[in-house]
Amino acid sequence: MKVKVKVPATSANLGSGFDVAGLALTLYNTFTFELSEDGLNIKGCPEQFCNENNLTYQAFKRAAEVCGLEYQGVNIECSGEVPYTRGLGSSSTCIVAGIVGAFAFKDKVEERQEILELATSIEGHPDNVAPAMFGGMVVSIMDEGVSYHDIVNVKEGIKFVPMIPDFKLSTKEARAVLPKEISIKDGVYNVGRVALMVTALSNGKYDLLKFACKDAFHENYRSKLIKGFEEVKKEAYRVGALATYLSGAGPTIMAITSEKEEIFKSNIEKFLKEKSLNWAVHELSIDTQGAFIIEGEE
Ligand code: HSE
Repeated sequence: MKVKVKVPATSANLGSGFDVAGLALTLYNTFTFELSEDGLNIKGCPEQFCNENNLTYQAFKRAAEVCGLEYQGVNIECSGEVPYTRGLGSSSTCIVAGIVGAFAFKDKVEERQEILELATSIEGHPDNVAPAMFGGMVVSIMDEGVSYHDIVNVKEGIKFVPMIPDFKLSTKEARAVLPKEISIKDGVYNVGRVALMVTALSNGKYDLLKFACKDAFHENYRSKLIKGFEEVKKEAYRVGALATYLSGAGPTIMAITSEKEEIFKSNIEKFLKEKSLNWAVHELSIDTQGAFIIEGEE
């Protein structure tokens, strides 16, 4: 029996929602698991990840222990569209898939809260794994070691346009540049804005998004690691973005535009080309399904 799991990309740190707000996007990675008697075999990802340290395998192994799955070996095949180390939740797709894959062999995929807890403990924060698991825009917190989340009903009318640099920025490196403490002033700045983000998205008050997306916790520090950050953001607003923010730990800059906006993508692509920035641009929507098992696979 094979288990095939499809997991959406995610955009965490949604505006002012550092470590707490993220959403799932219509860009996916797919993972196939097959138990074997022949050790670990991994296909479909760069050679340096085809070993015991593979994140999907690590998550699968940990989940197998938790759900009581016994196995001698496993074949894992990965494919997909989510770029590595770009701030679009590729590691969450690996973690969620590994856990869902193991749980599926024990018929336990409905135990979603347990899957979320496990995924959060591996990732270290819930803002990517929660939307990867449940789909939609998700606010998630940790309270005494337990994760709680709720899904925000985002009104129709917007799309998400990630502008993805051609260089990587690891979360570890991007977390290392953050201050250890924040001031009350910065705390209030973000608390107000993240609350506004939730109301603006659920009420469809999209003119408020440019204020709600401002952040005092991480963007200023991390932007210095991203060549072209300020000029791309400025141009994105000039050519029609409703809001922009650093997606996850970066380096991707996310633009939110009206769903009806037709020329934002081509305009920003033209600008990137003029500036010799070899970035990729996609137009995406919010994925509302989250991780799922592709049925009918044998
Ligand atoms: N909230 C996380 C961070 C997202 O900013 O470090 C990246 O994994």
